Amino acid sequence: MEEQEEYEPLIVAFLCNWCSYAGADLAGTSRIQYPPNIRVIRVMCSGMVHPNLVINALTKGADGVLMCGCHPGDCHYLEGNLRAEARSEAIDLMLVDFGLEPERYRLEWVSASEGDKFAKVVTEMVEQLKGLGPSPYKM
Ligand code: FES
Repeated sequence: MEEQEEYEPLIVAFLCNWCSYAGADLAGTSRIQYPPNIRVIRVMCSGMVHPNLVINALTKGADGVLMCGCHPGDCHYLEGNLRAEARSEAIDLMLVDFGLEPERYRLEWVSASEGDKFAKVVTEMVEQLKGLGPSPYKM
């Protein structure tokens, strides 16, 4: 009898170039451990990620989407992260429409010096998604 493999969620992570990507990089160079479940997409600003991209990811293979940007007041394009925050409300509504749990999308502010926070967020999200099980769109 074959042993069933443990489900490993796949997370697509949009990281803004100026803060969060650098934070993720710091986690790596500081050798802070976190699960290898994320696939990073480096974007110039969290505000440039359209909600359709989030939904596309969640309906085409991802179990969760993580969006990370600069802290409020630190966005290199002034208000891009505030736009991302406003879009999160739209994304939450879209998740309901698509029959997806709200935990499948998460927005976090991660600065270039917060490698430890980045690792913590990824670890928490992986655990949460393991609890939810695979995206229904994977079936
Ligand atoms: Fe980082 Fe806008 S540049 S969120």
